[in-house]
Amino acid sequence: MARDEAGKCCVIGTGYVGLVTGACLADLGHSAICVDKDKEKIEQLKKVKIPIFEVGLEEIVRKNLKKGTLEFSTDIEDAVRRSEFIFITVPTPSDSSGNADLTQVDDVARTIARAINEYKVVINKSTVPVGSTKRVERIIQEQLSEPHEFDVVSNPEFLREGTAVSDFMKPSRIVIGADSQKAIMKMTRLYDKIDAPLLITDPVSAEMIKYASNAFLATKVSFINAIANVCEAVGADVREVALGMGYDERIGFEFLRPGPGFGGSCFPKDCRALLSMAEAHGYNFYLLEGVLKVNEEQQRKIVEKVERLLGGTVQGKKIGILGLAFKANTDDVRESPAIFIVRMLLEKGARLSAYDPKAVANARKELEGVDFAESPYEAVKDAEALALLTEWDEFKWLDYARINKQMKGNVIVDARNCLDPAVIRKIGFVYEGVGR
Ligand code: UGA
Repeated sequence: MARDEAGKCCVIGTGYVGLVTGACLADLGHSAICVDKDKEKIEQLKKVKIPIFEVGLEEIVRKNLKKGTLEFSTDIEDAVRRSEFIFITVPTPSDSSGNADLTQVDDVARTIARAINEYKVVINKSTVPVGSTKRVERIIQEQLSEPHEFDVVSNPEFLREGTAVSDFMKPSRIVIGADSQKAIMKMTRLYDKIDAPLLITDPVSAEMIKYASNAFLATKVSFINAIANVCEAVGADVREVALGMGYDERIGFEFLRPGPGFGGSCFPKDCRALLSMAEAHGYNFYLLEGVLKVNEEQQRKIVEKVERLLGGTVQGKKIGILGLAFKANTDDVRESPAIFIVRMLLEKGARLSAYDPKAVANARKELEGVDFAESPYEAVKDAEALALLTEWDEFKWLDYARINKQMKGNVIVDARNCLDPAVIRKIGFVYEGVGR
């Protein structure tokens, strides 16, 4: 690929990462074929029906489909033959013991091997256990029907749901883990138009960077949650404490928001995978064990608050739930603390009515026995307590005086510290946030 030449890419797996990667590569001026074995999904994508809510994604999919730089297909082998850069972005879910399940990565590697017709760079972008780049290389090598040159590199992504498109275009860094100079040159040119620090390293270190980054961020969240619990006990305000800590550049302001614990498709899964990887190599990662423990306990603490403020039991009581997504600005409920909290409340016999601006369709698949409301006001009608579980902006600006009149009781548990306690208490609520 010459300096200004467009790269021919295919992206296998059209989940969050794959779809964003394909659309953004096309938008950078390369050609991208996004492939998935799910025919229905691909048909919908061809009609610009995006299965996920991600800011700016629909726009660049539409634009690049029209330009012809982006294609959707179910034919993996054809896409591999027509491309030089083959991105693997299939899911690697946790198995029952916390290890990442590589079945789909292995399948894709075998398919790539069948289709290789000339030099390819195969790129592991999914979060895969340390050693997977070498594993993919070995599988392809074993399955090749004719000798062809190829390289496998690790290029972890650092996309956040909700801001994935801008995270791709303006990343904090680009990490390329490769042993081959040829692959490194090609990858560097592929990302030529992106202005970001470029770290070139070996594949194992690149894979480790991804786990270490997510585990560190998760550690910050559990740390501030633990501090929040101490703040509650001693009468300090955790928000002031986090602010005071954040001014120290070595600590920083980010990821110090206390709440109901971290969720999503990455932090919990990646912490578990790193823990079991360490264990498999004979190291007890006690710190990370603690991070996960604090996280689970944090969800329970929210339930206990609701229970305590309702006089010791939620049995038979109606509770209005605001927020089901694992964080704001996404429709994703995977490992959402809100879902765990709702399940615990249901088990304790509460009657629940829930509202979320984007995540109801996904939450319906996870929860039974919950009424889903069309608006926040409907969700809290006649409720004895309100639990605010996701920090959607619209929850900050509701008419809480109206809510107070509509509710049967007057308890608010604000698991995301979205509301101003003084204002809310003045309206007549009994209010509890986290760590204040
Ligand atoms: C995370 C990382 O931030 C990305 O860099 C990474 O690429 C991605 O995982 C991944 O591995 O694919 P994401 O899961 O989309 O991104 O969400 P975050 O914004 O990191 O939030 C994770 C969880 O932590 C959420 O439940 C959020 O509510 C919680 N959180 C975050 C807090 O409770 N407090 C904070 O201060 C920050």
